[in-house]
Amino acid sequence: MNTHQIIEQEEQYLMQVYARAPFVLDHGHGCTVVDTDGREYIDCVAGIAVNALGYDDPDLQAALHAQAGKLWHVSNLYHTAPQAQLAQLLCETSFADKVYFANCGASANESAFKFARRYAYDRARSAPAGGFAKTGPSSKHVIVAFRGGFHGRLFGSLAATDRPKYQQPFEPLMPGVRFAQFNDPNSAAEAIAEDVCAVIVEPVQGEGGVHPATPEFLAAVRELCDQHDALLIFDEVQCGLGRTGHLWAYQGYGVQPDMLTAAKPLAGGLPMGAVLMTQRVADAIHPFDHASTFAGGPLVAAVAEALVTKVSQPAFLERVQDKGVYLQEKLAEINSPHIVEVRGQGLLLGIELDIAAADVVNAGYHHGLLTVSAGPNVLRLVPPLIIDYDEIDQVVDRLSAVLMEL
Ligand SMILES: Cc1ncc(COP(=O)(O)O)c(C=O)c1O
Repeated sequence: MNTHQIIEQEEQYLMQVYARAPFVLDHGHGCTVVDTDGREYIDCVAGIAVNALGYDDPDLQAALHAQAGKLWHVSNLYHTAPQAQLAQLLCETSFADKVYFANCGASANESAFKFARRYAYDRARSAPAGGFAKTGPSSKHVIVAFRGGFHGRLFGSLAATDRPKYQQPFEPLMPGVRFAQFNDPNSAAEAIAEDVCAVIVEPVQGEGGVHPATPEFLAAVRELCDQHDALLIFDEVQCGLGRTGHLWAYQGYGVQPDMLTAAKPLAGGLPMGAVLMTQRVADAIHPFDHASTFAGGPLVAAVAEALVTKVSQPAFLERVQDKGVYLQEKLAEINSPHIVEVRGQGLLLGIELDIAAADVVNAGYHHGLLTVSAGPNVLRLVPPLIIDYDEIDQVVDRLSAVLMEL
């Protein structure tokens, strides 16, 4: 089948929820993807911050092949070594004492919401008389989220995602979510009260336009959570696992969460999510409180272990930081009246434009460049973390050429 026929087939048989690019991707190598007509694109999307090690990493391939010959899936009724090993690695490279595996970012966040509600439920029930209701929903159930944040599109994660347009057709969503202004400690102080069981925040907002939190803001939110016995959840689905030049974005802030959600790059392109948590949180969760058929299966866990092992190397992370600075500097040198601001951390960069980001994305296709928008006017660059300096130069040249045309 040729390109045209594949696109027609897809339009006939696939539910149309995506606005897709007008070509069909066929294979990839390094940081490059190739379409069915043989055109090559430097990939600054990487599956939207997923393919951290690009398209043909030998260690990921070796882990996949080795595990594929042994065991792909068994129920979580049984122990498997890859899951246990990955959990240990994630704990040893973070604040966490325990890990729960999920299947994607949204399901990781929804798991974290359930854990927070469970944690508060027990504490509320043991509160002195006159404190909280002894039966029914705990009055300490509110989840605080922030304007511009993105946490997924299932009913709970969508409720915590500040996008009225995406929410309204599906209401009623999960009740009990309160919003505050991002990077505004006063607004956070108004929202975080005694009825709050958890606060969820992205240390660097991705979908919302690539906005890093200020250190003061995260520190203030941490303090408010402590004051009100609320759990702090960092959603590092997009900014975690090396993307900021730190293994975990929070490590660049020195502010520690009670739970952290990860997904996108975790299994190098296979679907996997995780909730990292302290022992205090884990102690509140009991058998059968939560579960998943697929989560943490041996095939994805084996690949994820290879990915985390590689991405957590200090030298690897240092290179991500250096390349992020280099890319940011090069972008700042582009002489285009359309660029309003370049911002971000590591290799999670946003270019605010005075034109529609979608026009730049589309024009980029003709220059062999894949980019993605983050809101109407922000162009996002989230290349594989293995991108080299030469490729960064090519990205900047191609982007300059695109902007000159518009
Ligand atoms: C910060 C953040 N959280 C959660 C999600 C949802 O992840 P998923 O699409 O894997 O459900 C995303 C997806 O873009 C995200 O960027």
